[in-house]
Amino acid sequence: MLAARRLLDPLTATAAEAAVARTVRELPAFRQARCLLAYVGVRNEVGTGALIRAALAAGKTVAVPVTDRARQRLVPARITTYPGGLEPGAFGIPEPRHFEEVAGAVLDCILVPGVAFDHRGFRLGFGGGYYDRFLHRVGHRAARIGLAYEFQICPTVYPGPHDEAVDCVVTEARVLDRRTSR
Ligand SMILES: Nc1ncnc2c1ncn2[C@@H]1O[C@H](COP(=O)(O)OP(=O)(O)O)[C@@H](O)[C@H]1O
Ligand SMILES: [Mg+2]
Repeated sequence: MLAARRLLDPLTATAAEAAVARTVRELPAFRQARCLLAYVGVRNEVGTGALIRAALAAGKTVAVPVTDRARQRLVPARITTYPGGLEPGAFGIPEPRHFEEVAGAVLDCILVPGVAFDHRGFRLGFGGGYYDRFLHRVGHRAARIGLAYEFQICPTVYPGPHDEAVDCVVTEARVLDRRTSR
């Protein structure tokens, strides 16, 4: 999956990303969210820049994850501009240096990255378990939207007992809703 994503040509990636963003913007879970947590895409992940800009322009509170490697934890960090003010942090992922932490309990919507997703919304990450721990801690008040290219959708990612699922996965081609897919 990582090799396939690395090899993605930029035009295809940009077009797919735009299609994903158009779809996400129409989802009630995104539209109605007052407080959004959005990952910042790196290494050919589906980018979230357009969605972050749209959310800021709509007056939503926007946070991006800051990786606390010492505590193996993701911290929602409020941003008010994008991409200004972000610098590469842990794993080279852009994050704000100084920030106000947004409490997990006030998040309405979480955009979740993944290496692969399956039809039940389970995800394969980079193997650090960061999103599993984070989503477990935050619970299900916030809608969880996975963003992926169609080729990242697998029949199963062989989830373990600690793996947390997303509510839906948006690709350039469709929305997979875990309630309606098998
Ligand atoms: N809720 C949790 N509590 C404690 N440890 C967890 C939790 N979720 C994940 N982990 C740890 O993170 C490790 C990596 O998780 P894994 O699902 O393999 O990674 P990823 O989801 O990033 O692909 C697990 O083996 C487990 O030790
Ligand atoms: Mg996992």
